[in-house]
Amino acid sequence: MNVRDSEHMIAELTQKENYSLTQDIKDADLILINTCSVREKPVHKLFSEVGAFDKVKKAGAKIGVCGCTASHLGKEIFKRAPSVDFVLGARNISKITKAIHTPKFLGVDIDYDESDFAFADFRNSLYKTYINISIGCDKHCTYCIVPHTRGDEISIPFSIIFNEAKKAVEKGAKEIFLLGQNVNNYGKRFSNSHEKMDFSDLLERLSEIEGLERIRFTSPHPLHMDDKFLDVFSKNPKICKSMHMPLQSGSSEILKAMKRGYTKEWYLDRALKLRSLCPKVSISTDIIVAFPGENEKDFEDTMDVIEKVRFEQIFSFKYSKRPLTKAATMPNQIPDDIASLRLTYLQERHTQILDEIMPKQEGKEFEVLFEELRADGAVAGRTDNNFLVQVKGSEELLGKICKVKIANAKRMVLYGEII
Ligand code: 5AD
Ligand code: SF4
Repeated sequence: MNVRDSEHMIAELTQKENYSLTQDIKDADLILINTCSVREKPVHKLFSEVGAFDKVKKAGAKIGVCGCTASHLGKEIFKRAPSVDFVLGARNISKITKAIHTPKFLGVDIDYDESDFAFADFRNSLYKTYINISIGCDKHCTYCIVPHTRGDEISIPFSIIFNEAKKAVEKGAKEIFLLGQNVNNYGKRFSNSHEKMDFSDLLERLSEIEGLERIRFTSPHPLHMDDKFLDVFSKNPKICKSMHMPLQSGSSEILKAMKRGYTKEWYLDRALKLRSLCPKVSISTDIIVAFPGENEKDFEDTMDVIEKVRFEQIFSFKYSKRPLTKAATMPNQIPDDIASLRLTYLQERHTQILDEIMPKQEGKEFEVLFEELRADGAVAGRTDNNFLVQVKGSEELLGKICKVKIANAKRMVLYGEII
């Protein structure tokens, strides 16, 4: 989402103001730091980054702090880093052109404003076309700062999404990547009386765009994975068979304390149903270890889900105490040494599972959309179920979908040949 927000700011600055991008920091008139605040580490990093930019930037160059940390720290950023010229929260990036002309501009409200969608057009890559379908989140999971930084969940009108997708395809995109905190809750709240539809309908309607070959999305919420959604996902050939299913914890007790709205059994039922409806699906997940009160039995439940679902990819984190969240005030915060042990144990087991999954891909054939040049005459791309594939080749493969036979499978990359 931050990548897309950055694209929006670049669009505004290059098309409505007279800015262009530079790769040389010493040359920049404006430095934007687009921040995340989901865990504590990036927040510390922000202030060291501002210090580092201060040392190298040219005289008079402005620094703007944008994104979720800007939302939650607000004017405190000016106090802690006086060289910062403006602070622009995640829900305020449409005000970027105002911010650059207003000394010490502070834009951190999280109210809804439809001008949030009215951006000029810019994309880093023709091949990775991100499209926001909703902003904000209503879920208030007890560990999560996002609802405080990105505000209430609002779905973007279908006509805006459709036109963006169509325009991207006309410009050569084969794949679109739909973004939202809870994409499969799409359609629950619009700002106005827009056409009503749910996420499954949205996927079906977008898949009708001629020339569009692939649709990806992130993140769906396990709670909203109803049968209709799993059915559309499995049957529609344009929908990439890669599903992100953020588990967070395998313990029903901890899930309740997290306010996730589902149990271990619900999650397993959905994931295993998905595997049976769609055998080639890759399932990825997010897991937080050492949430307050997590005991050994709770952690074993998380490991049990890992054994049963056998995720192709896991993003795992130690619980990080965040301001404004309910979990930050919960008793039984877990000591860091226990959190580290659990994280290492989980990651090591997942590595073993990957070492079983990946060699099975050798000899298989996949359709790969190439999107990135690599060193030594190689090109990389993704299978529709999201494996990273590398072949020998050059620029002319970029943006093309080719059939590849896998010769050699490593843990993170499949090496193959175009057939
Ligand atoms: N501590 C650790 N991880 C967190 N996440 C969100 N909030 C926290 C937190 N306080 C993780 C969740 C989420 C991912 C984007 O970041 O797993 O799915
Ligand atoms: Fe945060 Fe939960 Fe919303 Fe995801 S669903 S953004 S974890 S509050």
